[in-house]
Amino acid sequence: MSQEIHGTYSSEPGEPAESAEPEATRRAADEAESSRASRGWWDRNADEYQSDHGGFLGDDRFVWGPEGLDEAEAGLLGPASSLKGLDVLEIGAGAAQCSRWLAAQGARPVALDLSHRQLQHALRIGEGLPLVEADAGRLPFRDGSFDLACSAYGAVPFVADPVRVFREVHRVLRPGGRWVFSVTHPIRWAFPDEPGPEGLSVAASYFDRVPYVEQDESGDAVYVEHHRTLGDRVRDVVAGGFRLVDLVEPEWPAWNDQEWGGWSPLRGNLIPGTAIFVCERD
Ligand SMILES: C[S@@+](CC[C@H](N)C(=O)[O-])C[C@H]1O[C@@H](n2cnc3c(N)ncnc32)[C@H](O)[C@@H]1O
Repeated sequence: MSQEIHGTYSSEPGEPAESAEPEATRRAADEAESSRASRGWWDRNADEYQSDHGGFLGDDRFVWGPEGLDEAEAGLLGPASSLKGLDVLEIGAGAAQCSRWLAAQGARPVALDLSHRQLQHALRIGEGLPLVEADAGRLPFRDGSFDLACSAYGAVPFVADPVRVFREVHRVLRPGGRWVFSVTHPIRWAFPDEPGPEGLSVAASYFDRVPYVEQDESGDAVYVEHHRTLGDRVRDVVAGGFRLVDLVEPEWPAWNDQEWGGWSPLRGNLIPGTAIFVCERD
């Protein structure tokens, strides 16, 4: 399903929050169930996400993750001065803060997300950006439409088949195009998702790829996260047709005293929280 988003932001959230607490478990979740769960979860939780993290993200900054690494300094897509006039696809764009920064550099971004409510927040912040509601596994664009593709924690951690997403990104990129995406650092899978000291002891196998699933009373998934080891991610990038040119593990900077879920200064100073894959298409 894909749809261009028009209209205005409504202050009424899409659907009421779940009534009963979902049950957290580990079990298989295929592509369709994962996609359905993500759409519902992000539609229900977009308001809270933007209210909790919108200030840190900024309306028009490009932040790669909770450490606060900013593309203006990192230049992972290339120097900011080189972005002018480039067609850029942002995947899992949320409220399109990164796309807004790209537009300010003179690029032509398209912000794509599965969640209607997240894209409504993009409209709330400002109109004028092309917004597309679609699944990252089925990109509604012609071959070779973009010079660059990027994603800050969008889609990749939530899909059952990341290679499918990478092949789609490869298809819509022009030769020589860069694909840069950030995800939760795979090492975090082995630790409890807690910001305090309880999040510093290994509690699960890093090698266990069984997805983390929250399900409702009927057993239907309402939230899914898929784990890949670092080696899996590298193999997926290559299977998607890309060359890996860098793997960035941002260190926790001294200025950042903010917690974001399980990401905190305490843990960030000891173990990596984010992995950013810089890939190129030949
Ligand atoms: C953690 S948020 C990141 C949003 C934004 N990049 C940011 O930094 O705030 C993850 C986003 O990925 C989107 N997403 C999840 N699964 C997706 C999929 N299969 N296709 C497209 N977007 C997806 C969600 O709707 C959500 O907006």
